[in-house]
Parts: sequence; C-alpha cells; structure tokens
Amino acid sequence: MEFFDVSILCFFVLLFFLSLHFLFYNNKSGGRKLPPGNTGWPFIGESFEFLSTGWKGHPEKFIFDRMTKYSPTVFKTSILGEQAAVFCGAAGNKFLFSNENKLVQAWWPNSVNKVFPSSTQTSSKEEAIKMRKLLPNFLKPEALQQYIGIMDHIARRHFAACWENKDEVVVFPLAKRYTFWLAARLFISVEDPNHVAKFADPFNFLVSGIMSIPIDLPGTPFNRAIKASNFIRKELFAIIKQRKIDLREGKASPTQDILSHMLLTSNEAGKFMNELDIADKILGLLIGGHDTASSACTFVVKYLAELPEIYEGVYKEQMEIANSKRPGEQLNWDDIQKMKYSWNVVCEVLRLAPPVQGTFREALTDFMYNGFSIPKGWKIYWSTNSTHRNPQVFPDPMKFDPSRFSGTGPAPYTFVPFGGGPRMCPGKEYARLEILVFVHHIVKRFKWEKIIPDEKIVADPMPAPTKGLPVRLYPHKA
Ligand code: HEM
Repeated sequence: MEFFDVSILCFFVLLFFLSLHFLFYNNKSGGRKLPPGNTGWPFIGESFEFLSTGWKGHPEKFIFDRMTKYSPTVFKTSILGEQAAVFCGAAGNKFLFSNENKLVQAWWPNSVNKVFPSSTQTSSKEEAIKMRKLLPNFLKPEALQQYIGIMDHIARRHFAACWENKDEVVVFPLAKRYTFWLAARLFISVEDPNHVAKFADPFNFLVSGIMSIPIDLPGTPFNRAIKASNFIRKELFAIIKQRKIDLREGKASPTQDILSHMLLTSNEAGKFMNELDIADKILGLLIGGHDTASSACTFVVKYLAELPEIYEGVYKEQMEIANSKRPGEQLNWDDIQKMKYSWNVVCEVLRLAPPVQGTFREALTDFMYNGFSIPKGWKIYWSTNSTHRNPQVFPDPMKFDPSRFSGTGPAPYTFVPFGGGPRMCPGKEYARLEILVFVHHIVKRFKWEKIIPDEKIVADPMPAPTKGLPVRLYPHKA
C-alpha cells in the first residue's frame, strides 16, 4: 500500500515537471514566436479532443474551435505524441502542397509507421521518392482505361450477388466489399471469393488501428493492426513470388494487373522495385483504396436518399448512358466522360464527407509562416474541413449543391479531398472510376430510402454511418 502511495506521488511529481517543461518549451522555444494554441497534457496532448470530435461525428470541430480561439491561419497543438502546427484555409494548403520536399515532407504518425513500415525505412529516402514517382504511372487515366470493363464486370457481379432480389441492405459493408473486390482483382488478380475473404477481415483491423493511439498491448486496436499488417504482407509476398514465376513461364500477362506492371517497370536508372517495396506499395494501395472510396460510395447513397431532386438528375444522366448501350455492353472511357453531373454530385459528397480528414507533414527546417516560427521537426497537420466547411470559402457550406463544381469550380486549394502537390492521392483517378461505375449500377437498378432517418455519423477515421446505412430498396420497373 505504502509502495503504491509513493508510486502515485512520483507519478504526479513527474507529471508536474513534465508539464512545466512543456509550458516552458512551448512558450519560449528559444525566443521564437510559436503559433498560438494549447498543447494539452504531456504526451497525450490534445489527442483525445482531436480523435473524439471525430468519434462524435464532428471532426471539423477540433479545427474550427481553435481557428476561432487562436488564429484562423495556424495554431499549435500536440497530437498523437507530437508537437504540431495545424495549417488552415486555402493559403495553408497552398503553402504545404507547394513546399513539399523543400520546407516540409510527408510524415505519418508513429502508429502508421509501425503498422505499415514503408519503403522509407528499407531503402534510402531518395530511392523511396523515385519509387513514389512511379506509382501514378500505374494509376494514370491512360493506364486505367483498360480496367473500366473489368470494373463494370465486377460491379454487375456484385450487384447481382448482394443487392438484387433484396428488400433491404446495409450499404457500408457492401460498398467495402465492392471496392475491396475491385482492388483485389485489379491490383493482384485475386478473384476467388475465399481468397479475397482471407484478406478482408485483417484489412478492417489494419485500417481502424492505423490512426489509433500507439499502445502496443494485446487487444489494443494498434496491436491488432500490427498483427494484421504482418499477416497481409506475408500473403502478398507469396502472391508476388508466384507471379514472378508465372511471368517468367508466360502463365501471367504483363498487363493483367498493377502487380505485373510494378514487377516489369523500372525507374529512370533502370532499377526494378524489390519484393518488399512492391508488397508495401500494394499494401499502401489496398489501404488507400479500401475504406476511402467505399466511404464515398456510402455517402453518395445517403445523400441521394435524402435529396430526391439530386437523385433524379443522376438517374437521368446514367439512364441516357445505359440506354445508349447494347444489351450486355460494358461501360467504357467515353461513358465515364459523359457522367459530368454525377461526378459533380460525388465531388459535393467528398466536400461534405471527405473520407480523409487531413494528413501530416514534417518541417524539414525552421521556417516562418504568417509571422509564426515553425521549428524543424514539428509536425504539420492540414485538414480538408478547414476549407470544405468554411462559409467564407463555400457559402452556406452545409447545403448540398453540386453546382459548386460546374463551370470553373471551386478556387484552387479549397477543394482538397485528395490532398495536393506532389503527394496528392495517386488513386484519385482510380477512385473516380470505381465510384462512378458504382453510381451507374446502383441508380440504374434502384431507388431507395433510409431505414434510420437520422442515423448518426462518426469519423473513425473515415466518416461512416454508425449502423452502416441500412436502406430499403425499390427496384425500377423493367
Ligand atoms: C475517394 C477516395 C479517396 C480519397 C478521398 C483519397 C484521399 C487521399 C488523401 C487526402 C491522401 C493524402 C494526400 C496528401 O497527404 O497530400 C491520399 C494518399 C494516398 N492515396 Fe488516396 N484517396 C482515395 C482513394 C484512393 C485509392 C482508390 C487509392 C489506391 C488505388 C489510393 C491510394 C493512395 C496512396 C497510396 C496514398 C499515399 C501517397 C503517398 O504517400 O505519396 N487512394 N489519398
């Protein structure tokens, strides 16, 4: 008992000194003027507030409360164990996206690095940057055009198996299933449902543990995510090894999927990616494409249920395309180009329910921003919501209005669901295709209504309806 009391006393003394250290460090920092803000408790900082506003369904609250209290352009905080500055507004986005690898570089929280050790740890930084340049090549529009038919085929199969002849469905798990099946087929040619299912559960653990507090103890989300990533990486190695053999023996085609492309493409210096790099790139793509696009598909379904006039516009556009096709003819690139209104609707969904709330950078050197000093090593967070839900940027921000995206569309650096600059999401075009193919197939088949009219939304870290968005389906009469 005595020992227990002494331990508690020591703990509070330590906390007191740590707090003094933080206070001193934060306010002075060598005489430099740091951005205003609060760094909260030692180590934990404001992580709880940061994460819990998302759990409560208002991730923007963390940002807007502090923009109002401290500064609309930049404030300091401490999240996920790091000193951080949060850059806000279009000017903040522009500054970060234009200074990539000059003043800032991409940074992921320790939780991400441990769960998902990227090639930055296994090869030199320069090598990793070169490799990253290759990634968009596999995912640029020209490369993806040949995959639209496959997407269409998988979407038909998915709707036939999971939606047709059902009165009610739960949308989010089905949307995840759709995007995961697509990814498994298009990235690594895994089509067998049992094989896909083997990956699917670990992926759910992986994604939900990535942005968690990094406590590696049995049962924590973080611990489950590490285990899941090891399991998936092992599976990927086996697939890569087999593919190398199949390519050598002519049993696999060089263009059948992104894995074949990666194995057969060298960088400018003629160097090929090693197996670890490829496994990590594929894992990155699977993670990047897993919950993001499915969250977007789910929110399209939600908004179309709530806004019948928007549904009618999308339905009209998609039926013109559907009626122009021969029976059984697959969607192609020209059809996708015709889906202009539908894409504006998707963009409005991505504005109001961005799948990625924001990401981090790290200051490569000391620099000044808006009169405040940002010390080298500090982490910098930018957030989609700081512009997406800002009435000065998007008037009447909570109004669903796809016409914001017609004509020249939003001002630069204001609509940033995919980030920007050299680190902009390499899966943007792929996501556009898979979401539009999904929209085509769902509106062609059904109208629907929400079963829980005021279902709560949480962001953990992707936004999702808490019950997965159950809907009642009304098939169109043939
Ligand atoms: C609606 C769907 C999607 C959204 C909203 C989205 C959004 C984002 C955002 C905001 C970033 C960070 C950019 C930055 O830090 O500046 C990112 C990175 C990334 N995304 Fe996506 N993404 C989506 C779909 C996809 C898909 C389908 C893939 C894969 C095919 C993908 C692969 C990646 C990868 C690999 C990165 C990391 C890039 C790097 O580290 O350089 N994303 N995404």
